[in-house]
Amino acid sequence: MSSVRVLVIIPTYNERAALPGTLVRTRAAVPHADVLVVDDASPDGTGEWAQEQAARDGAVHVLHRTGKEGLGRAYIAGFGWALERGYDLVVEMDADASHQPEQLPDLLDAVDEDVALVIGSRWVPGGGIVDWPAYRQAISRAGTTYARLALGLPVHDATAGFRVYPAATLRALPLAEITSQGYCFQVDMTNRVHLAGGRIVEVPITFVERSEGVSKMSRDIVLEAFVNVTRWGAERLWRRVRRQRRSGARL
Ligand code: GDD
Ligand code: MN
Repeated sequence: MSSVRVLVIIPTYNERAALPGTLVRTRAAVPHADVLVVDDASPDGTGEWAQEQAARDGAVHVLHRTGKEGLGRAYIAGFGWALERGYDLVVEMDADASHQPEQLPDLLDAVDEDVALVIGSRWVPGGGIVDWPAYRQAISRAGTTYARLALGLPVHDATAGFRVYPAATLRALPLAEITSQGYCFQVDMTNRVHLAGGRIVEVPITFVERSEGVSKMSRDIVLEAFVNVTRWGAERLWRRVRRQRRSGARL
């Protein structure tokens, strides 16, 4: 495993309170991995703090962006950075330790030659949530069920943000075309991997509600996800209808 080059991407917006603990735990849990903090010019100084860590620790890197553009744009920028530098496995992980760094080795172990995506899943046996308010659980469960049914996704946690992508998966996707900004970025990526025929594996994780800082979840983010999933679902139905019409015409 140690010859495999791993990059853990941590997107940040105002995570000055949460990032230090997460970074220490990540370096301890996966010492062979590099870390890339992708900061959207956080007003609370997260980017500057990360920069100081990078000066001290050669495994830590920072990508400074000019303003808040959403989780999706931050990850796309991080993916580009990783591919340019030849990393083999690219990890997505939140800054607030909701994704426990100690569970990352389990996700990395699930990577196999024929696996296109590993998802750390809250909604499979063995997975779960600690301290999340009931309304957040309801949104997450409803969102993932809707995406599963509307898009025919073979996963139980489509919005999950704790993931491992082999570089080959990312290289095969049209990253520049992906415009999803909030958590629907995760559904978008899952859908694209699935449509491309990639095998997706879910590993149970325990998601722990953050104890530092605040969530960036908003009504607009939920709405973006609902509108996009509905549109992609309609496109899927339309593709089916056209396929059936075409095969019907040949009879
Ligand atoms: N660079 C950047 N830009 N980072 C961002 C932005 C942004 O605009 N918005 C959010 N982030 C970062 C946060 O700083 C954090 O590290 C991570 O993205 C997740 O954001 P949270 O605000 O902590 O998300 P959450 O805890 O409410 O949502 C969780 O559940 C979602 C739905 O299941 C996360 O695990 C999400 O990844 C997941 O999709
Ligand atoms: Mn969070």
